[in-house]
Amino acid sequence: MQTITSSAKTDKITLDSISNPQLKIWINEVAKLTTPKDIYICDGSDAEYSRLCDEMVDSGTMIRLNRSKRPGSFLARSDASDVARVEDRTFICTRNKGDAGPNNNWTDPAQMKETLNDLMQGCMSGRTMYVIPFSMGPIGSPISQIGVEISDSPYVVVNMRIMTRIGKRVLDTLGNGDFVKCLHTIGAPLRPGQKDVAWPCNKDTKYITHFPEERQVISYGSGYGGNALLGKKCFALRLASYMGKQEGWLAEHMLILGAESPSGEKTYVTAAFPSACGKTNFAMLIPPPAMKGWKITTIGDDIAWIKPGKDGRLYAINPEAGYFGVAPGTSLRTNENAIKTIAQNTIFTNVALTDDGDVWWEGLSDTPPAHMIDWQGNDWTPEIGQKTGKKAAHPNARFTAPASQCPSVDPSWESPEGVPISAMIFGGRRATTVPLVVEPRDWDNGVYWAATIGSETTAAAIGATGQVRRDPFAMLPFCGYHMGDYFQHWLNMGKNVKNPPKLFGVNWFRKGADGKFMWPGYGDNMRVLEWIIKRVHGKGGSTETEIGSIPNHKDLNFDGLNFSEVQYKEATKLDRDEWLTELKLQDELLDKLKDRLPKKFFEIRQALQSRFETKSNSSKTGSMNVMI
Ligand code: OXD
Ligand code: MN
Repeated sequence: MQTITSSAKTDKITLDSISNPQLKIWINEVAKLTTPKDIYICDGSDAEYSRLCDEMVDSGTMIRLNRSKRPGSFLARSDASDVARVEDRTFICTRNKGDAGPNNNWTDPAQMKETLNDLMQGCMSGRTMYVIPFSMGPIGSPISQIGVEISDSPYVVVNMRIMTRIGKRVLDTLGNGDFVKCLHTIGAPLRPGQKDVAWPCNKDTKYITHFPEERQVISYGSGYGGNALLGKKCFALRLASYMGKQEGWLAEHMLILGAESPSGEKTYVTAAFPSACGKTNFAMLIPPPAMKGWKITTIGDDIAWIKPGKDGRLYAINPEAGYFGVAPGTSLRTNENAIKTIAQNTIFTNVALTDDGDVWWEGLSDTPPAHMIDWQGNDWTPEIGQKTGKKAAHPNARFTAPASQCPSVDPSWESPEGVPISAMIFGGRRATTVPLVVEPRDWDNGVYWAATIGSETTAAAIGATGQVRRDPFAMLPFCGYHMGDYFQHWLNMGKNVKNPPKLFGVNWFRKGADGKFMWPGYGDNMRVLEWIIKRVHGKGGSTETEIGSIPNHKDLNFDGLNFSEVQYKEATKLDRDEWLTELKLQDELLDKLKDRLPKKFFEIRQALQSRFETKSNSSKTGSMNVMI
């Protein structure tokens, strides 16, 4: 095994030049176990990025897209067994099983390490071992954290370079300090003379494991997204949520946006939605023409790290530096800013390739090109699609693009101290029962609301799609400890922070009797956001209901949108019987977590039930009840 250094144009980093003793020891330990052909320490330079992309084009892992249509961009096609996060292969390995909670798969840390140690003997043979020093959050911010990912995948290196800040400047900032160890292997050693495949991975065995007490992640067998880019879900959510619980802060599955009103007043808002439910679209929203003067700016589209500031408010940073967005459904109509962001320097994974060397996915245009190569490398025509039902792009196809390319990026998106948050929005994906928007009566009721949001599953994770599951805070797959403790941590934050944000619930996905979405969504979500911002500033009318304050038709701005009062009442109605059933269904979640559920939750649950029991069901006909 040899250590290779970066090419002449880059800042060479050799293993010998690494001064952090822990890092040096760890690199040597991993190399001894995994026996790579060489070790490469990433400097984060442009030259390094270009060289790795060229190498992957030569090896067939990536296809260079047409330079005049999509400059600096590439397409990768994954193995058909490696297309999404593998939640059933994801483990939280705490010493005490109870600490991981029923929301996580658990294995004893020593036992898991034994399993992984066996699997990882020689697992990088014939491959280069890349060492990627990375910072989650702006380098040097007091909210940021440093990690080092060791990976045998060059695809991971180039994606990490877009999604985080990597390289020499991170090593310099780390000095002799502590870092989070993120070990990744695709689990596909190459025997001497063996020909490599375009997307090497381990088709049969995958483990995404977390050791929160040691601040360590070990991922085996997958090269895709959240399974392999370990700064994202593994560190920035699962480990960081655990760290936040210990240290009094929050790591959340939330977008962060700034809303500038026509008078120039700026309000920062976070919003939690489950995977593939439009967080990226909401973060980059363009207000409808009739709401001229409003402007939305983007801080982040997926993850927020939130800490109390000295002034008693909560401040948020986006720990990421890029977007790993779902491509299907993204178009000029649904998200013009995203389309502009991915116009260049973007890595696409599992989208279709057009005959002129560009990309396409379902929803990009109404009419697909007459011929393409689909995400699995086969010919695709609209006729083939119709006959076989095969999509041209995988439903979880992604783009990886730098945040700096986003036209709506907020001027403060890299501000080390973060931005002050005035409102937090929690959205599920519910066809029935849940109204368009509500402001729960106080912080604790808002926490209960967020804890009990339900959602229909999407393609972001392996498994059946379209089934309703409880997805508390949109964190079910990402909370690194017992959900009951997590709810208590949220209740405590509300008590400990002098000036907490207001909490809101939304549901863009309610359907009418005709099976169609009632609410137009996308840019028109600005109408709901405007009301939320008014509430934050002590304005905005509403009616009190069993679950909190709901705006009346006259309280929302419907300029330029034909949305009648009758339609609005349908979209916001609370049906007594539906809600009594909903509360029973919520009990399934509460029951699972009951050993550590905050007492407060039982009180809130009971109070909701009594209010609905005494409600007459006149809302079925459209009129809203005033709460008793
Ligand atoms: C994501 C996810 O990739 O939530 O952001 O699955
Ligand atoms: Mn996500």
